[in-house]
Amino acid sequence: MNRDKNYWEEYYKKQNENLLPSLFAKYVMNNLAKPEYTLIELGCGNGRDALFFANEKLNVIAYDQCEDEICFLQVKYAQLKNIQFKVGDFSELPDITRANLIYSRFTLHSISKEQEQKTLIWVYRNLTEGGYFCIEVRGKKNEIYKLGKKVENEEDSYIYNNHYRRFLNLDTICTDLKNTGFVIEFAAEKKGFAPFAGKDETYIRIIAKK
Ligand SMILES: C[S@@+](CC[C@H](N)C(=O)[O-])C[C@H]1O[C@@H](n2cnc3c(N)ncnc32)[C@H](O)[C@@H]1O
Repeated sequence: MNRDKNYWEEYYKKQNENLLPSLFAKYVMNNLAKPEYTLIELGCGNGRDALFFANEKLNVIAYDQCEDEICFLQVKYAQLKNIQFKVGDFSELPDITRANLIYSRFTLHSISKEQEQKTLIWVYRNLTEGGYFCIEVRGKKNEIYKLGKKVENEEDSYIYNNHYRRFLNLDTICTDLKNTGFVIEFAAEKKGFAPFAGKDETYIRIIAKK
């Protein structure tokens, strides 16, 4: 299910010039990545982190559900041989390759719990032994938790500012990752991970190793 596709298509029509990498991308690059590693990004938006990793000499495969945005990125960066932008629902992907890193920034809260479960299993299968699943996501301590309209029959899910978010419980996602086979190398929910537009909200960051 491609939720909020129109919302994100409209959003990224106006965001194609903001290409600064996130702090999380820099953290992953500085602590986990090496040149020539393969990285798959789940939900790349305007591609700013995917392009950062590619400029750092990683081989990058970046998915998003937004066809217009992905087509724009495919044309604009056609000369970069170490990055592939692909259209797809990341919770429904076929097996692709064995990646050293799979990267999800602010995208696990865009999908349902059922989709998340499928995604965790897919990520585990598509990582090399010793590879890392890198997650940054909104959790229940996030400042906008419970704002907006509650989604019926879905725990901790709300429509706010015209799009869906499901706020994760840190302990639950860590348990789900462990049950999938991952070892949690780092997990925290706090401020400081992703200050944006003058605000420093509370987010979850997890590094899980296969
Ligand atoms: C909040 S944005 C984050 C973009 C990027 N990761 C960043 O940090 O700048 C969420 C992105 O995930 C994408 N997305 C959400 N659910 C998706 C799904 N099931 N499959 C593919 N992309 C999805 C949206 O289209 C949007 O581009």
